[in-house]
Amino acid sequence: ALDQRESMFLVSEYAQKYFHDVLLNTEEGKAIGLSYFKERGFNGETIKKFGLGYSPEAWDAFSKDALGKGYQLEFLDKTGLTIVREDGRTVDRFRHRVMFPIHSMSGRVLGFGGRILTNDKKVAKYLNSPESDIYHKSKVLYGIFQAKQSIAKLDNCYLVEGYTDVIQFNQAGIENVVASSGTALTPDQIRLISRLTKNITVLFDGDAAGLRASVRGIDLILEEGMNVKVCTFPEGEDPDSFARKTAHGDLVEYLQKNAKDFIQFKATLLVDEAQNDPVKKAGLIRDMVTSISKIPDRIQREIYIQECARIMDISEQVLVSTLAQLVQKDI
Ligand code: CTP
Ligand code: MN
Ligand code: MN
Ligand code: MN
Ligand code: MN
Repeated sequence: ALDQRESMFLVSEYAQKYFHDVLLNTEEGKAIGLSYFKERGFNGETIKKFGLGYSPEAWDAFSKDALGKGYQLEFLDKTGLTIVREDGRTVDRFRHRVMFPIHSMSGRVLGFGGRILTNDKKVAKYLNSPESDIYHKSKVLYGIFQAKQSIAKLDNCYLVEGYTDVIQFNQAGIENVVASSGTALTPDQIRLISRLTKNITVLFDGDAAGLRASVRGIDLILEEGMNVKVCTFPEGEDPDSFARKTAHGDLVEYLQKNAKDFIQFKATLLVDEAQNDPVKKAGLIRDMVTSISKIPDRIQREIYIQECARIMDISEQVLVSTLAQLVQKDI
């Protein structure tokens, strides 16, 4: 007999095929879903590669179809694809949305992100599958299945925030890209990447607000012994919008030119922030040294100490003694 998780995979895979089929082969899917994707610049090949879909506006179109095909309500419920209401009525979780299936490293369908069709700021833009026995948000990276070969081959992984960033980069010919889906990277996610490469380039959405918070999350990547570069985009642009308006050659060149070593980037960012205020500067030095202390390799740490001393215009001695307080071992 199939076990529970296998049954959940099977119903998720059926849902992926259903949403994809509705997108490509129904009037509603074509008029609403397909034209949405086309408007965002996704071509047919890209839509196929990522298995994109559309969920109809009706209350229970998918659930009815799946139940009719013999899929059990138990697994529709457990995957969150169907919501069983208190009055016993079953309704689809995803309705009137474009659908982004989320795959495991080996290509199984774990869950979905569903996007509303407008840019209405009052409504949550994406609805995602709930945590389940097969979908653990903190352990998956969107796009990893499509990216893994390219990541290994090019020995680098681009990390972006969102579904559409991954897809637009692919369409621009850059395939070694995955998304954390809007949250800070977790150790499990970093380990997925580190099986394929030790080099990661974090691409930030170009909104200054998010930058400091995102920068803090990067210490975790250093801790895993990975080499981190970062690249920012012009104000108001994310990797998707930037890639879309940039020719392939120019995009590659932009990434090469603007990818900076993370420690140097952070030191520069902190210097700008301190503005020669000594109290501020002391706090920022500790922040900087905390990042350096996460790097497992001692020689690398020493080199970074020298560079940060230069960038932040303070003595190496101050950094070394601050580091010594943070890392009791190995110094
Ligand atoms: N996200 C989410 N739920 C939300 C908003 C965001 O799960 N309500 C996740 C999605 O994975 C999204 C990512 O965070 O792709 C980044 O969010 P954002 O930059 O706001 O969205 P974009 O990916 O740029 O989406 P779009 O271009 O369609 O607006
Ligand atoms: Mn589990
Ligand atoms: Mn964003
Ligand atoms: Mn974005
Ligand atoms: Mn976007």
